Order: sequence, then structure tokens, then C-alpha cells
Amino acid sequence: MSIEVAKTAGFCFGVNRAVQMVYDLIEAGESICTLGPIIHNPQLVEELAEKGVEAIASPEEAAGRKVVIRSHGVAQSVYDEIAALGLSCVDATCPFVAKIHQIVAQDYGPEGLVLIAGDVSHPEVQAIYGHCKGDYAVIADAAELVEFMEKHPNLPKKRVILVAQTTLNVKEWANIVKSLKKVCTNAEIFDTICSATMRRQQEAESLAAKVDRMIVVGGRHSSNTGKLFDICSRHCPTVWVETAAELRAEDFAGVDTLGITAGASTPARIIKEVQKTMSDILTDDLSFEEMLNLSFK
Ligand code: F3S
Repeated sequence: MSIEVAKTAGFCFGVNRAVQMVYDLIEAGESICTLGPIIHNPQLVEELAEKGVEAIASPEEAAGRKVVIRSHGVAQSVYDEIAALGLSCVDATCPFVAKIHQIVAQDYGPEGLVLIAGDVSHPEVQAIYGHCKGDYAVIADAAELVEFMEKHPNLPKKRVILVAQTTLNVKEWANIVKSLKKVCTNAEIFDTICSATMRRQQEAESLAAKVDRMIVVGGRHSSNTGKLFDICSRHCPTVWVETAAELRAEDFAGVDTLGITAGASTPARIIKEVQKTMSDILTDDLSFEEMLNLSFK
């Protein structure tokens, strides 16, 4: 029986930075709130709530507290709203996300069109298009892009800028780029997928290809965790849990080799708990089999 935990499992640079900024502010005795949950991890958000850090839905709810902007970033209109309310803000937008904001916020002229490859319902994507100065469109995958191009036959005459949500699947990105280049040969393409995401996805894929079962640890609302789950599921049966408490021994009967990975917003403590619980479950499973063997001898 062996358990391998992916080296890239857990907090990425941007999430770690945002969480650290919040803890530093708490330590400095600042009265703060976060605009939306600081990360997609209910356990950590709960821990912060216990320390008096509320996750608010809009700047109006800040009531004089400092507003922390999470790593996903926010639209320009939200910065404007914060300023108009006279609030101070601590910007924990991941620098890699801020770079995308800079790209899309440029003036590309009347023929400019920013294409954002990603999930239109994700806050990171909503923040990205919230920085566009001109026309934009969000496409989830190559199929949606093809549909969009068919509906807009004048696209080759436009100045097309393509960016990606930082957590986009790398294979989907390759399909999108290929489809776009066929129609818009002059498109300006910015590969804004975060390398942390890419490395985590690649490692999850190669781990899933060599083990009997995978566990993906992360919040139910974490899109990058969901993508890891999809990738791993293609290679072996995969279980998605938020915490060790959700693990059920019967899902791992007969498992010899187990891989564990985790989304970018999963605290190390939770990954360790999952590893420890699985080690207990698999050890018990082995001794159960051993007992059976013994009784039939
Ligand atoms: Fe930033 Fe990449 Fe994490 S964009 S928030 S370091 S996944």
C-alpha cells in the first residue's frame, strides 16, 4: 500500500499571498472584511470569521472597515465604488491576474475585441471583463469559440486579443488557440494560464495515470479543484472531498496505490488530515485482508 501526495497540491503563490495579507492585517489589529470569501475554502473562511473577519458581498457592507480584495481580483467599477464610499482597500489580487487586467484594459480602438477563454460565471473572469475598455466576449471552450466566429463573420477584420482565465485547462487552451488561428491569423494571443495551475494539472494527470485511486481535496466551489477532479477522473476512479471527514473506507476497498492532490485554495493542514486518515483506512484495510488470509489457512 502506498500513498503519494502531489508536490504541487495546495496553496499557490497568489492564494498564499492573499491569506498571509489577511493574517498580517489581523495581527496588526486592523478592522477588516473581505470582498467575497478570501479563498474558496469554507474551513479557512470559517476560521477567519471566528477571528472577526467577515466576508461581505458588496463594498456598501464594509461599514468603515478596510476592504480586502481577494486573489481573483475585482472589476474596475468595484475599485471605483470603494473609492466613492471613502473606504480604504488592501489589494490582494494575484499579480498574475492583475497582469491580465492590464492587458485587457488597454485601448484597442474601435476594431478591438477582447476574447476571454474561461468560465463566465467565475469571479476571476467577471473581474477580467470588468477591466475591458471596449468590446469583449467570453468563450468557455473551442466549440463555443467556433460558434461565436460563425455568428461574427467580420471577425478576421477585427483586432482580436485573446487571454485566458488563469486556471483554464491547458489542453482546452491549445484547442481554442488552434481554432482562433484558423480564422483570425493576426490575433494577439496572450497565454495567461498560470504556470502553478499547469504544473498542478500535469502532476495530477501523471499521478492519476499510475495509481488505483485518486483523492482531490478542495472546496466544492473551487473551479481549479473541479478541473483537477475532471483530469484525474479520466485516468482512475477519483473521489473529491473538502475535508478528511468526508472520506468513506468503502470507497477504497482493495486500493493498493493512492494519489492525493489538492486545489490552489486548500490549506496544508487539510491535505495532511486527508493523508493521515487515508493511511489509517488503508492500513486497516490491509489488516482486514490479512485476517481473512489467516482465517482460511
Ligand atoms: Fe495566482 Fe496562479 Fe494562484 S494566478 S492565484 S498563483 S493559480
